[in-house]
Amino acid sequence: MRKLSASILSADFGKLADEVRAVEAAGTDWIHVDVMDGHFVPNITIGPDVVRAVRKVTSLPLDVHLMIEKPERYVEAFVDAGADWLGVHVEACPHLHRTIQSIKELGAKAIVTVNPGTPLMSIEDVLGEVDMVLLMTVNPGFGGQKFISGALPKIRRCRQWIDERNLPVLLEVDGGVNRDTIDALVDAGVDVFVAGSAVFNGGDYAGNIKRLKDRM
Ligand code: DX5
Ligand code: ZN
Repeated sequence: MRKLSASILSADFGKLADEVRAVEAAGTDWIHVDVMDGHFVPNITIGPDVVRAVRKVTSLPLDVHLMIEKPERYVEAFVDAGADWLGVHVEACPHLHRTIQSIKELGAKAIVTVNPGTPLMSIEDVLGEVDMVLLMTVNPGFGGQKFISGALPKIRRCRQWIDERNLPVLLEVDGGVNRDTIDALVDAGVDVFVAGSAVFNGGDYAGNIKRLKDRM
């Protein structure tokens, strides 16, 4: 069963609770929360207190994407705030295996995230440890960027690794997911689709979500 994870990065932060309730009512499966520190990525967004506030207004799974340096310092705070799924970037984690174990020990599902320029090989040895792999299809930092189609072979290869090893690991993509790109992503074997601007732009959340989910 494929899932849509609506990225609140494209929501109106001035009325975030209403926006979260609105996309839940409009049919998103999960809520994707982008945490940025101004170091790992150029942009700065939100911290655990906002995750806690979002947790209070929805019962949907919270899929929290940490784009921060030394994410191991904050894993406990985000799980405590209500993250069901917690993702760390391989590029930010010298002790990736340990960080993944700590996410799982805290009771959350662990995601390893890979930038477009980072080889898949870098996560080969933790593939059996994670609950989901998130392959970035833009360089992280901002919503509304152009999909990097060069990521498709990597997505297919990751799908193949998961299937060959028969692992209970989901495959997620993030960045530039919209009506023009979703068919190729479905074809490549993606399980979870993050979409920000394609959900929020134009204001017709139910229509936007339906148009994506009809293709998933
Ligand atoms: C980008 C974030 C994404 C972003 C995607 O760094 O990780 O989750 O919200 O936005 P769209 O769907 O507009 O490309
Ligand atoms: Zn994201």
